[in-house]
Amino acid sequence: MISKETQEQIKSLIRIEEVVGEFVRLKRSGPRYLGLCPFHDERTPSFVVSPALGIFKCFGCGKAGDGIGFIMEHERLSFEDALRFLARKYNIEIHEQEKSSELAAEESLRESLYLLNDFAKRCFRQWLSMEPSIGLSYLKERGISETIIEKFQLGYAPAGRTLLTDKIKQSGYNVELAVRVGLIKKHSESEDTYDSFRDRIIFPIHNLSGRVIGFGGRIIKRSDTAPKYLNSPESDIYHKGKTLYGLHLAKRAIVQQDNCYLAEGYMDVIALHQAGVENVVASSGTSLTEEQIKLIRRFTNKVTLLYDGDKAGVMAAIRGADLLLEHGLQVRLVLFPDGEDPDSFTRRTSSDEFMTFLRREARDIVGFKAMLLLEEAGLDPIRRAEALKNIVDSIALIPDGFARNELALSMARMARLEEKLVISELNRARKAYLEKKGRAPIQTIISPLENEPTPREKKDTSVQVQIIPEEMALIRWLVLYGKRKIKFYSSQNEQGIKVQHQSTVWKFIKEQLSEDNYQMASEGADILMGLLESYFESDSSAYQNAFDFLLQKVPHEIKPLLIQICADSEEKVSPGWQTKFGVGVNHETDHISANTLHTINALREERVRSFLKQYRQELNQPQNEDHHYLILKKIMAWEQTKKELSQILGRVILE
Ligand code: GTP
Ligand code: MN
Repeated sequence: MISKETQEQIKSLIRIEEVVGEFVRLKRSGPRYLGLCPFHDERTPSFVVSPALGIFKCFGCGKAGDGIGFIMEHERLSFEDALRFLARKYNIEIHEQEKSSELAAEESLRESLYLLNDFAKRCFRQWLSMEPSIGLSYLKERGISETIIEKFQLGYAPAGRTLLTDKIKQSGYNVELAVRVGLIKKHSESEDTYDSFRDRIIFPIHNLSGRVIGFGGRIIKRSDTAPKYLNSPESDIYHKGKTLYGLHLAKRAIVQQDNCYLAEGYMDVIALHQAGVENVVASSGTSLTEEQIKLIRRFTNKVTLLYDGDKAGVMAAIRGADLLLEHGLQVRLVLFPDGEDPDSFTRRTSSDEFMTFLRREARDIVGFKAMLLLEEAGLDPIRRAEALKNIVDSIALIPDGFARNELALSMARMARLEEKLVISELNRARKAYLEKKGRAPIQTIISPLENEPTPREKKDTSVQVQIIPEEMALIRWLVLYGKRKIKFYSSQNEQGIKVQHQSTVWKFIKEQLSEDNYQMASEGADILMGLLESYFESDSSAYQNAFDFLLQKVPHEIKPLLIQICADSEEKVSPGWQTKFGVGVNHETDHISANTLHTINALREERVRSFLKQYRQELNQPQNEDHHYLILKKIMAWEQTKKELSQILGRVILE
């Protein structure tokens, strides 16, 4: 057991943003950080990390806690193991309190499997460096440097039958567990045990936190009977479909470059590193899974596929892209010359040439697909129609309505087709897709975050375009008054003098939102804000007003929402809105400036309210005293934030 003092020491040294930052791409926003929640599927960040409070909280799925809680949840560790994990990270020596046999027995199965894998990895590495080493000469022959061997912890399993099995037995490790994790094979009748990996180059497979969860092994001598690559089987710690080879070494670079290269094999990942490209992972021979995509999306939403340029490679890339598009990723493609993979190609080029090649050859997958299919179809009208349908089906998967329309329009230009035709085809495809997913168009439902959506009519035949009232109020305000000029005073400069600023409602709101790094909570609001941006920021003189512009541009499914939002005209502001948001005292136009700020306030307050609500609910659940106290502390902290918030808001005085 870890002593109380060590626990305290760990707690005082960990920094929540560092702990979480190792697994989630965090963006600073004022006093806190925002990112995509690693515990549920989302595209707009609602995962907040507060360094001041030492906690994280997701507004989407409600998960919340401190640094230790994060590691427990994310790495699926017990409290004690999470402490050990953090102690390793911060180089804190652990003082164990008399480790009872009972506790030793409790040491988790997973932990033992990790230890076994780590032991095996060390054996493989030793065998690689033992002269004369067939493994090492093989790697040298393929041009792999010492640095890279070290970085990827490559090893070698010699040709003997029970080398590793013997080592495992001698060192007192549990053979059954070694069978379980796939290092040792056991004959079902004779109970004979022998090594799984023999005469193979070993690629340890690491999880995000760098622990070895499995192995890949490449055969050295060509063989017609044995497979070229052998992988560890699924186990309690290794899940192939949830793992990306090389991600633990790539995650920083992926965030920095805001792009992830996706290759096909171990050797490709390694070769790219040697060529100086570190933001690369591989799915190890299988087609990409949803889990793997979610993994990538924690770090970036841009993927570049690296494929062989032959027919099979092209088709594989196009097939694989749909799932990525469906999850909202931007997908590009680099094709290598026929018969080459990234690994062989890097060996023919210098590092500079290779990087230039990657940059120059990357093209948008949808554009590429359109070009390819339309070219194949030639002038044959029936084949052209088929191609169009095929391309539009891919575009229809993209969740972002704005991106969807843009792509469809650019495809219309490329194929010299009427825009209307392509858009109506897109609407058909989107509808079909939503129906297939069990969601059918078109019904707008407006619901506050905390309540169940309240369908207006038939529940079963509706896309639930949800939006929170505060965002609704904001959009409505922008549609009605976005171009109005407002005046406000920023608090005081160094001389203690109030400074007056002029702005427009749109500019003011936009600045405030970006200062908060505020992301719209719903897709509908997101799309409408995007459209409003293009209306206010570019020449929109062809349109009567913002509403007119939106009405013409807005995707089909969002239209009812738009109408609903703007239905309340200036004259008849509903009393509900008035009391709820302080928006729209009977003649709202009299107080444009004040109401603009109110609209923003309402949004901010909603965030804090939902924090508080969450914790109060937690307080009502049965729990031990420590936890109870912790929540109370958190509530107090948030109450404080609420106070601070109103002070911050007070900084800006509106006329
Ligand atoms: P080299 O031939 O060493 O250059 O490897 P490669 O990465 O070019 O291999 P290839 O393109 O043939 O395969 C790509 C990936 O598919 C590999 O990295 C493996 O993950 C997987 N793979 C290839 N062959 C096999 C096999 O026989 N069995 C299994 N399970 N996976 C394989
Ligand atoms: Mn290869």
